[in-house]
Amino acid sequence: MARIAVFGASGSIGHRVVSEALDRGHEVTAVVRDPVRVTRTHPALAVLGGDVLDPASVTVAARGQDTLVSAVGGDDAAGHEALIEPSAEALVAGLHALGAEAPRLIMVGGAGSLRTPGGGPLWDTPGLPDQVVRIMRAHGAALDYLRRIDGEVRWTSLSPSAQIESGSRRGAYRTALDDLVVDEEGRSWISTEDYAKAVVDEIERPAHIGRRFTVGY
Ligand SMILES: NC(=O)c1ccc[n+]([C@@H]2O[C@H](COP(=O)([O-])OP(=O)(O)OC[C@H]3O[C@@H](n4cnc5c(N)ncnc54)[C@H](OP(=O)(O)O)[C@@H]3O)[C@@H](O)[C@H]2O)c1
Repeated sequence: MARIAVFGASGSIGHRVVSEALDRGHEVTAVVRDPVRVTRTHPALAVLGGDVLDPASVTVAARGQDTLVSAVGGDDAAGHEALIEPSAEALVAGLHALGAEAPRLIMVGGAGSLRTPGGGPLWDTPGLPDQVVRIMRAHGAALDYLRRIDGEVRWTSLSPSAQIESGSRRGAYRTALDDLVVDEEGRSWISTEDYAKAVVDEIERPAHIGRRFTVGY
């Protein structure tokens, strides 16, 4: 059993991570700006108020945990630009305050920086809306930041496939490091259910500390 705190626990991806972890017998603390937004009750679920951009809040959420997951996002590119790399910095600062007692960090990343079968990063795909590219770049900046602090905090960034949507839990997926996972029909996708499974699999069997990986079908 692991103790897991999740920032963004009310979001599309975060709430699946919470459910997957609870279903697998872990103790979960859902960290949300507004605790009334978490309506689920479960004997192994605690709810804590917290802001990912506040290092002191991160320290409080992380204390006594085995893993801290961040699944935060904004509504648009401006929200992401204000949130994603700054949240990585605040998470690292908040974990630093706990020294050797700090839990490991798993950040939900973005697919944009992944290498496509054509060789270039996904964000160079012609025709992508500017707003989408800016969100992808925000995740790229956060990943660059984590790679620069390598060694100080035990971080993992998990990039979804190009598409991630609510669906079914197949219980199977493929992983790669920096290459986009593409299926036989050329589609890069994963359900939020299987993405959450991959997060909890990584918590139970750490295989990507200090690096980014991705999951897809
Ligand atoms: N293909 C891809 O690469 C791909 C696709 C989808 C998503 N993503 C990434 O995955 C992440 C999560 O996406 P999502 O769709 O699950 O997001 P979402 O549904 O919009 O949820 C975002 C969550 O972040 C929380 N949050 C925002 N600012 C916060 C703050 N300052 N402190 C604490 N919590 C905060 C929100 O909490 P409140 O309830 O307090 O607002 C909410 O729970 C995003 O970064 C997104 O870019 C990547």
